[in-house]
Amino acid sequence: MSTATSAAAPDVSNPDVVLVVDFGAQYAQLIARRVREARVYSEIVPSTMPVAEMLAKNPKAIILSGGPSSVYAEGAPRLDRALFEAGVPVFGMCYGFQLMATTLGGTVDDNGAREYGRTPLSVSRAGSTLFEGTPTEQSVWMSHGDACSAAPEGFTVTASTDVVPVAAFENDEKKLYGVQYHPEVMHSTYGQQVLEHFLYRGAGIEPNWTTGNVIEEQVAAIREQVGDKRAICGLSGGVDSAVAAALVQKAIGSQLTCVYVDHGLMRKDETEQVEKDFVAATGANLKVVDASERFLNALAGVSDPETKRKIIGREFIRVFEQAQLEILQEDGPEVAFLVQGTLYPDIVESGGGTGTANIKSHHNVGGLPDDIEFELVEPLRQLFKDEVRMVGAELGLPDEIVQRQPFPGPGLGIRIVGEVTKDRLDLLREADAIAREELTAAGLDRDIWQCPVVLLADVRSVGVQGDGRTYGHPIVLRPVSSEDAMTADWTRMPYDVLAKISTRITNEVADVNRVVLDVTSKPPGTIEWE
Ligand code: XMP
Repeated sequence: MSTATSAAAPDVSNPDVVLVVDFGAQYAQLIARRVREARVYSEIVPSTMPVAEMLAKNPKAIILSGGPSSVYAEGAPRLDRALFEAGVPVFGMCYGFQLMATTLGGTVDDNGAREYGRTPLSVSRAGSTLFEGTPTEQSVWMSHGDACSAAPEGFTVTASTDVVPVAAFENDEKKLYGVQYHPEVMHSTYGQQVLEHFLYRGAGIEPNWTTGNVIEEQVAAIREQVGDKRAICGLSGGVDSAVAAALVQKAIGSQLTCVYVDHGLMRKDETEQVEKDFVAATGANLKVVDASERFLNALAGVSDPETKRKIIGREFIRVFEQAQLEILQEDGPEVAFLVQGTLYPDIVESGGGTGTANIKSHHNVGGLPDDIEFELVEPLRQLFKDEVRMVGAELGLPDEIVQRQPFPGPGLGIRIVGEVTKDRLDLLREADAIAREELTAAGLDRDIWQCPVVLLADVRSVGVQGDGRTYGHPIVLRPVSSEDAMTADWTRMPYDVLAKISTRITNEVADVNRVVLDVTSKPPGTIEWE
C-alpha cells in the first residue's frame, strides 16, 4: 500500500461535546450513538483518562457508562472525585451510577440483589428531572450484581425496583444524576427519553447537532488540510469510501482523483453505479482501472479461500499503486494526500487517538519511490455508520450507494466455494441479482443486514427439469440479521419471498437446479461462505 505520515489535521472542534467515559463492555459506543440521536455531539474517552484532561475538552456534560466490574473488585476502574466537583453535569449509568454513589459517600453492597434483563422499575418522583412525563411503572434493562442501598447526601432517590432500594437518584443542584439500569438499551422503554431529559433539562444542552454541521465543518477542515495540493481516494463501491470521496470532492473539487479498481468480482451493475451514478452525483474525477482479466488469471486453479483472499489483496494493491503512479506523473500540484473512509468505531476500537494516522508502505510497482508518504484525510473519523449514510444522502449520493448493504472487499471471489472462473462469476451474478431484486421488491432491504448468495461450485446434485434429468449446482441464500456483523442470526424471511427467489433462480439461471437456505446463526457459522 501507500505510505502516509503524521501531521496534525485541523481539529474540528465541537463546542457542545458530551463525553462518554468508557468503563468497558461495549456500552459506551451505544450511549454515544444515543446521545447523537438526541442531536447532541458526543465522544468516547477511556476511563483511564485523567479527569483534568477530560475537563480540558470543555464538555457540556459527562456520561459514565456501564462496565463489567464490581466497584469493590480489586483493580476496578475508579474516578477522581474532582469530576463531580467541576460543575459539569454528570449522568452515571449502571457501573457509572455505582461509582458515583460510592465516590460521593453513598452505599453500594453485594446484598444478593442481582438483576439481569428486563426489570420493572417504580418511579417514586414522577416530576424529577430524569423521569418527568414518563410512567411511574416502566420496564428497564438491568445487568448488575451489587446494588445501591443508600444514596449520597444531598441526593434524592427517584426510583426503585423490587430488590434495589436505590435504582435512580439525582442531585439537581449539583447537576448529578444516575440510574442503575441501561437507558441506552432499547429494552429500557423510556431510556431515550430519560437520556434526553438529562441532556436538555439536566445539562441544559440545545439539541442542534446534525450531520449537516458535519459537512460544513469537514469541508472547511479538508480545505485547510489539503491546501492547493492534490489527493487520491480509492473507491471500493462501498458506502464509506463513497461518502468520504464525496465530502472531499465537495471541499477540493478537481484536486481530488478517485481510483476504482474493477476486479471483476463485483455484483451485477455495481461497477456501473460507481462509474455513472457516483460521478453524476458528485462530479468527481474518476479513474477506472479494468483489471478483471488480471484477477481472473491470478485466481486460476485456486480453490482455497485464504489463498484466494491473499491473491485478491495482492493484485488489488499492485493495480492501485500503478494507478497512483500514473496520477503522480500527471502535471499538476503535488499529490500529498490519501483519503480514507475510516469510521468512529474503527478509531475507538483501535484505542482512540485524536491526531491523524498515517500509512507507510513499500511499493511493489516499479517507478514509485520506495517510500512515498501520503498524509491521510479521514473526514468520517467522528461518525457512526448510520450517520455516514445520512451525510451521503445529504451530499446527494443515490440510495443504491448510501443504503448499500455490507459487501466484502474480495467480492464474489469469496462467494464461490471452489475455483473462480468467468462463467461461474456470471452465473452467480445472475442469481445474486435475482435475490436482490426480490428482496427489494418485498421491502426487506432494511430488515436484512445482508444476504450473501453463494455458489457451491464444487457440488453437483441430480434434479429434474422439463422432461430431463439435470446435474447442476446449488445456490445458497444466507440472509442474516445483525447489529454489527460480529454476531448474527438467520433472518426469518417470508416463505413466499423465498419461494419466488428459488423459482426464479432455478428457472432463469442455467446450471443451477437447487436453492437452499442457510439457517445457521453466527457463531458458529460466519456470515460469508468461502
Ligand atoms: P464473516 O463472514 O466473518 O463476515 O461473518 C463479517 C462481515 O464482514 C464482511 N467481510 C468483509 N468485508 N472485506 C470486507 O470489507 C473482507 O475481506 C470481508 N470478509 C468478510 C462480511 O460481508 C460480513 O459483513
